[in-house]
Amino acid sequence: MHATASPQQLDFAAIQALARADMAAVDALIRRRLASDVVLVNQIGEHIVAAGGKRLRPMLLLLAARALGHQGADAHQLAAVIEFIHTATLLHDDVVDESDLRRGRKTANALWGNAPSVLVGDFLYSRSFQLMVELDRVEVMRILADTTNAIAEGEVLQLLHVRNPDTDEPAYLRVIERKTAVLFAAATRLGALLAGADADAQQRLHDYGLNLGYAFQIADDVLDYSADESALGKHLGDDLAEGKATLPLIHAMAHSDAGTRGRLREIVENGEIDALPEVVAAIRAQGSLDYSLERARAYAQAAERALGAGPGNEAAAALRGLARYAVERGH
Ligand code: IPE
Ligand code: IPE
Ligand code: MG
Ligand code: MG
Repeated sequence: MHATASPQQLDFAAIQALARADMAAVDALIRRRLASDVVLVNQIGEHIVAAGGKRLRPMLLLLAARALGHQGADAHQLAAVIEFIHTATLLHDDVVDESDLRRGRKTANALWGNAPSVLVGDFLYSRSFQLMVELDRVEVMRILADTTNAIAEGEVLQLLHVRNPDTDEPAYLRVIERKTAVLFAAATRLGALLAGADADAQQRLHDYGLNLGYAFQIADDVLDYSADESALGKHLGDDLAEGKATLPLIHAMAHSDAGTRGRLREIVENGEIDALPEVVAAIRAQGSLDYSLERARAYAQAAERALGAGPGNEAAAALRGLARYAVERGH
């Protein structure tokens, strides 16, 4: 990637094209460093990594570094670290959520069971720390130690809200900040750090990532009710089945008439997956998907604002494009 005169914003295909060479290097690194002489670790690791995924977080780290003029290969290593952490959280998340479809494939927990999934998730977490330590930079380690710790807190916090119909929007936002947004923020901050950016620029890239992460998770929670399942590669209604009240349902509960509200509360308390059509009807009646997408757009706009004005280079245009993509995506 190089700095040239460029449009203000790029679409996702153009962003992927821009990042292709870097991402191929990251992918090769991920595959190489996935290896273990314990067969089951390789099998499960390969299963989830080879299924793809959007690789959005490593792309964000690279684009942040490139936007600030950094060209080094240490960005590939750190991008791989971020994707390892993300992949570990997915293995754990599918156990907690009892999900059986991810990236268009049966989940590791569905194929091998919960214990192997949790343990290989731990392997990926600790492998990410091995890779990180190789860079030998205390500030990088501090950011990632704080980030992974916050993610763990976010997952536990979410667990405390399961089947709780009193979960409201502020409580929901506290959960998604930790479970999702902090990793996006770490990715973009680390890109800025590698680029040798000053504290102010690092903070702006952090704020961009954090707001993008909120937007991304809200959009994910809308997709859980409204996506095309084969495009999403995950089952719809997983959140409801788990008794997780996400923003669309929180909004519907707050705005429905007393009768419907009572019924929705009961559905959350019981995690009634069979009630999905009923919930979708209530959500549609209250315009709760549109409301949620508007909230997501507001975060995406805050992300763009954090980047500041100016055309910048192509990588900066790609970051602006990703702010839009985080909300307006089908999977
Ligand atoms: C899924 O993340 C978990 C959330 C934070 C919503 P992604 O949607 O980025 O998952 P992959 O990596 O593309 O499969
Ligand atoms: C994201 O929440 C969890 C993580 C941060 C790992 P979800 O439970 O909504 O993620 P998906 O929908 O299963 O990917
Ligand atoms: Mg899940
Ligand atoms: Mg989800």
